[in-house]
Amino acid sequence: MKDTSPRTGLFPSQALATLVLWLSLPLYFLQATWLHGATRAPVWGQRGLVATVSPLASEAGATILRQGGNAADAAVAVGFALAVTWPAAGNLGGGGFALVRGQDGKSTFIDYRETAPAAADKNFYLDAKGEVIPGASTVGYRAVGTPGTVAGMAMLHKKYGKLPWKKVLEPARRLAIEGFVMDESFVSMLESNKERLEKFPGSRHIFLKDGKGFKAGDRLVQPELGWSITQIQRQGESAFYQGEIAQRLAKAIKKGGGVLTLDDLKNYKAVERAPLEGRFKNYQIITAPPPSSGGALILAMLGMLEKDDLEALGFGSAAYNHLLVETMKRAFADRAEWFGDPDFTQNPLQKFLAPDYLSKRRAGINLTKTTPSQDIKPGDFSDKESTETTHYTIVDAQGMIISNTYTLNGSFGSGATADGTGILLNNEMDDFSSKPGSPNMYGLLQGDRNAIAPKKRPLSSMTPTIVLEDGKPILALGSPGGPTIINSVFQVTLNTLVFGMNIQAAIDAPKFHHQWMPDRILSEPFGINPDTKKIMQSMGHNFGDRVFQFGDVQAVFYDKKRQQWSGGSDSRHGGSVAVE
Ligand code: GLY
Repeated sequence: MKDTSPRTGLFPSQALATLVLWLSLPLYFLQATWLHGATRAPVWGQRGLVATVSPLASEAGATILRQGGNAADAAVAVGFALAVTWPAAGNLGGGGFALVRGQDGKSTFIDYRETAPAAADKNFYLDAKGEVIPGASTVGYRAVGTPGTVAGMAMLHKKYGKLPWKKVLEPARRLAIEGFVMDESFVSMLESNKERLEKFPGSRHIFLKDGKGFKAGDRLVQPELGWSITQIQRQGESAFYQGEIAQRLAKAIKKGGGVLTLDDLKNYKAVERAPLEGRFKNYQIITAPPPSSGGALILAMLGMLEKDDLEALGFGSAAYNHLLVETMKRAFADRAEWFGDPDFTQNPLQKFLAPDYLSKRRAGINLTKTTPSQDIKPGDFSDKESTETTHYTIVDAQGMIISNTYTLNGSFGSGATADGTGILLNNEMDDFSSKPGSPNMYGLLQGDRNAIAPKKRPLSSMTPTIVLEDGKPILALGSPGGPTIINSVFQVTLNTLVFGMNIQAAIDAPKFHHQWMPDRILSEPFGINPDTKKIMQSMGHNFGDRVFQFGDVQAVFYDKKRQQWSGGSDSRHGGSVAVE
């Protein structure tokens, strides 16, 4: 057809198209900064940012920042608020780890992990025949370790906070007393834990409305929890460990057949430890020391990949996935053997993290063929996973960062709420090895180093982490998910540092998990495309039947170009980033 359009000038339609193109260019560049498959843009802030799984808790933290608090104050406010608004994992009756980086550049680690009651020993969950009693370490009062959260929050506040204690607990108190409106996902979380919660009248009353159940749009008011928070506001941590709350906790636990006593509560201490530190390429990694295995495994996995050009392999390629899976298998094989509470057992970290050892481990990886797990080390894991535990990350306007992971262990912990306190109790005792050779609820097999002993802390996978470049923090993150925590933190770290994804895209990107045994890869829905999967299968990889979402990463990332912090909150559980 003959072209009749003029050679010079533009038709109105062409002019319009050009105008639209020019006008949309800023939009293109704006989008280009956050698309990459992300569900939404990162949140940018000129001052502080608070990333948590619960929008109400994020807002509680941001409120405290606006009132002149620092990141430590906000972290305490969020810790208490999540106990109200995210009861599956937020807690006063559990424990966790807070990684702190002060504006002075000093880092520290507050270990407020639960401890075994004095009456528990290595045979605590075994019957007369020496077999593990099913459910004993996971459901009800015998599963409860001495909670550390209130002591940890008090230590964080005393050493690093600046607002009055009473003030930082106020948002949580109000959320408990005045209640909040539950959305669909909150109600379905209650519904999916119904079986466990209805075994305990206190939990049934609060979370299942005495069996009548809640629907989205209903308000959840927790007056007993509000009373407990008020006591702690007035008397500090002693209310929980020695006062009326302690009396009620000990009474409820005794009545329910547990062994945790007033003395266990009185003797509980949070501990400040030196964080683990290591390097990956140009970055300095600050992370969780034992009793977490997570930090050591992150450093080991990154260490194995130190010399690899991961970017050249390409995100999501079979070669990249293969290399990561092989790295995970080797690190998790060592986890089972080597780790436990550092106050009870020696963790051979120097040997485990020695560059020579890690290069040898890396050299053992065949780039075209998987090494069957049984050839790396024997073991046995079940398929079970839980996504509970929760992480939050806060940066304040002065640059203080708190990366905090805490937990009740299973969803809603032991399921039991201590009468008259509104406090859900953990089932952290299941993180010990009840019997060498018997997997725990995460399918993790663990050795004697993690056997139960009075006052001992169970081995954890929680991995709050902060990354520095040229001495300045650029990334802080963490995740829930039992052993998948470690691989979630590993992959999101690589997504940002190696592939340059923005923080939201890095979090949203699908992940996969291998924990050495059983010898199979678990991947998220649509996580590995069928062609890549076929290539990986031809290399010998097995894929688990279960496809499920894991990780709920909450993170902040410093954008050097914008000279601004950005926050990302995992869309998998509806979290949010609040701005100061
Ligand atoms: N309770 C899960 C963990 O500490 O790894």
